[in-house]
Amino acid sequence: MSETTLFIHDLEAAVSPARSGPLRGKSLGDLEVHSPASVAISGDRILAVGKPEDVLREHPPGPECVSVDGRGKVAMPGLVDCHTHACFLGDRAREFELRSAGASYEELHAAGGGILSTVSATREGSEDELAAVAERHFGWMLEHGTMTAEAKSGYGLDRDTEMKMLRAIARAAENTPLDVSPTFLAHTPDREFEDAGAYTEYVINEILPEAAKHARAADIFLERGSFEVPEARRYFEAAREYGLALRMHGDQFTERGAIPLAVEVGAKSVDHLEATGDEGAKTLAKSDVAAVLLPACALFLDLPLPPARTLVEEGAIVALATDFNPGSSFCESLPLVMSLACMRLKMSPAESLSACTANAAHVLGMSGEVGRISPGYRADILVLDAPDWRYVAYHLGGDRFAARVKSGELL
Ligand code: NIG
Ligand code: FE
Repeated sequence: MSETTLFIHDLEAAVSPARSGPLRGKSLGDLEVHSPASVAISGDRILAVGKPEDVLREHPPGPECVSVDGRGKVAMPGLVDCHTHACFLGDRAREFELRSAGASYEELHAAGGGILSTVSATREGSEDELAAVAERHFGWMLEHGTMTAEAKSGYGLDRDTEMKMLRAIARAAENTPLDVSPTFLAHTPDREFEDAGAYTEYVINEILPEAAKHARAADIFLERGSFEVPEARRYFEAAREYGLALRMHGDQFTERGAIPLAVEVGAKSVDHLEATGDEGAKTLAKSDVAAVLLPACALFLDLPLPPARTLVEEGAIVALATDFNPGSSFCESLPLVMSLACMRLKMSPAESLSACTANAAHVLGMSGEVGRISPGYRADILVLDAPDWRYVAYHLGGDRFAARVKSGELL
């Protein structure tokens, strides 16, 4: 029998999604709650979770075992952030100020600011600088309980800078305890090119073959001022040949065919959905394409909210993520996203928890590996310094963890 190397004992409770993702409809809110509870860990895996006396009897801690006192606290799975732009240089603090005075995000983009200003800063810096910044951002995420995160490229646009970003993400991933899932993002056409179509051909022929060696997924921003359906379809057909999972930024400002295209190509997710109407929500709900909701971005840009209740009730695979990036969501906190989901999207605390654990793991192709406290799962566990797990969403901006265990190691 495996030796217990870390023992979290006498917790008020241990809470976890009841099953692995994808969770849909009513099962999104099904939690497995052990109260009181202890958790036994061996190496980087969870051995057991359950009644303290049972876990103690079956997996007694040896002399070398690290013990965590769980009295008055609750354990929950390490969070999974399935949509981030963690790698970039510069900031958009000035743009934030301009938006506070009424400028719109899309106007700034059309005028060559916005995403394009982060592109300029990212092109200028070295790979070392980029890797250091990404590592710093991963550290911020860890502090807020994220233990697995996606990281997108997309601030290079040209091949060399996109590859510099993907290498920097890989290097930062080696220097952080966080598990990182890299995504190549075709973000917006480089204005050096005649049109979006010409730029898309460049992406497919010049960047994708190299990027596919470093990325697990391919994402594209389908929106006015960026890419339209014909380019996105071409891109997805090419990316699929490399075995990449397909993701999409869609329906952020306008509905222009993101959902039908995602269903057509068998995408893993459509992310944003602030502009999605009833019909789109129902189409998505009937499909196996996940709906990744980003309420911190909607708040940051003062956008309408995505139709979360319709999506959940119609049976969509709903996930939550931060969209951490310098322009539309400078927010690395998934607990804050869970609070927003409860307060603004009217998702229950239980639905919010599953949406950024089990379902986010599904979006990253990591179901059965992370996102639950269950035997055999990676030992990514948060010990919340509160007597009730709902505090993670209820305590607004108050994500206080008494302990964080990443791959079986106490951080
Ligand atoms: O998910 N919408 C497009 N892309 C990002 C924002 C990137 C930026 O503003 O730098 C998003 O919101
Ligand atoms: Fe994004």
